[in-house]
Amino acid sequence: MRLDRLTALGWRNLHGPDPSRTADSPSPAVAETPEPSRQGPLQPLEWAPHPRFNLVVGDNGQGKTNLLEAIAVLAGLRSFRTARLQDGISFGQTTAVLTAKVFSRGLPSHLGLELTQRGRRTLVDGKTTTSAAQFLGRLTAVVFTPADLALPHAEPEARRRWLDRVVFNHQPAHLDELRRYEQALTARNAVLRAHAAGKISADAALLDVYDQLIARHGAEVIRRRQHVLDQFVPVVQQVFGQIAAPGLTCDIRYLPKVASQTEVELLHILQERRPRDLGAGHTTRGPHRDDVALLIADRPAAGHASQGQSRALVLAGKIAEIASLEKTLGEAPLLLLDDVSSELDARRNAALMAHLDELGGQVVLTTTAAEHIRVAAPRQIFHVRSGQLTDGSVLGDSGAHARGSQSSMDLSLR
Ligand SMILES: Nc1ncnc2c1ncn2[C@@H]1O[C@H](COP(=O)(O)OP(=O)(O)OP(=O)(O)O)[C@@H](O)[C@H]1O
Ligand SMILES: [Mg+2]
Repeated sequence: MRLDRLTALGWRNLHGPDPSRTADSPSPAVAETPEPSRQGPLQPLEWAPHPRFNLVVGDNGQGKTNLLEAIAVLAGLRSFRTARLQDGISFGQTTAVLTAKVFSRGLPSHLGLELTQRGRRTLVDGKTTTSAAQFLGRLTAVVFTPADLALPHAEPEARRRWLDRVVFNHQPAHLDELRRYEQALTARNAVLRAHAAGKISADAALLDVYDQLIARHGAEVIRRRQHVLDQFVPVVQQVFGQIAAPGLTCDIRYLPKVASQTEVELLHILQERRPRDLGAGHTTRGPHRDDVALLIADRPAAGHASQGQSRALVLAGKIAEIASLEKTLGEAPLLLLDDVSSELDARRNAALMAHLDELGGQVVLTTTAAEHIRVAAPRQIFHVRSGQLTDGSVLGDSGAHARGSQSSMDLSLR
């Protein structure tokens, strides 16, 4: 999987070169003064990334995360920052358009996403797609941000989202299943809420319909989560063994809120709990309440493990996600790393970089300081400033990239 070209128009602060600048005027990468406020139509950002390793360097607030987010949104139709994709529309604009040329198994395709405040349109090779499943899977990306390192301490919802992402990466159809589940759940909850507030007397036949939909899609969501986790955990354990202290063990367990998980059993639970749910005004059991236990030495990482140990577990999870995805997809996924090196200690960083070198796929990594990043893979530096990208040097492409034989140009990165 490879991103060959990206364009972004009206996405957060990203933009192309200002046409009012002449070739002689200083480029934004070296300008000392802040960007003047732009007048007239926005220019799209156009980016041709390196096929292997992209090091996006810039100070705080310049647009590094915005760039990664744009790529992630095109890949997965979800942002790792906000629930609403529309939040990415640039201030003062009414639409955002993201497009990409990508390669999957050597075959090119063109992805397009148009966002307005009213909705979105997705396109593949110029044709509007009618379901997320038609669009997804052409660019599979694994995202790693500093927020991920807090996963063991986060709310169950964050771990559920993490698990669903792992599942979705293995089985893109999971997203549609999850959507259908959530739609039925939202509809059921609306009835329950209105009933609890005394506004209506709930229609039992209508609730029966929702219960059946929730049970059908919910059982499928649970089955997929469990199935993918069974394959996934041994890989995490193997990687954890390489980066954590010798003898330390880890485990990841799915914790469904309901003991029984088939469609029939789920339906039974929904009906049994209906009186209680009518009182509560929402659905109290189901896969929307499930959690994932992250364990180190058989104890929950949050509250028992050291910070370094639980970070090692999250990092092992990411590396495992990439490895098992590569197996399922038959090629390496695109890896998007947002400034994580500054959050990891030297040993964990070295383990991450060693894995990135071995991975062989395309990586886009942001950092405020290039000296944090020590990889030997062929790579290009890009500078981001005020939402604009400029090309920097290409390193390690001339066959001199075997470890230990860097040219003197590389010294700043070693
Ligand atoms: N919808 C939007 N429209 C226009 N600009 C936006 C929008 N959302 C965020 N920004 C701007 O983008 C900038 C932040 O960019 P970004 O988060 O990518 O920075 P960064 O380079 O990742 O910084 P850091 O190193 O601090 O993480 C801020 O100046 C913010 O005001
Ligand atoms: Mg950032």
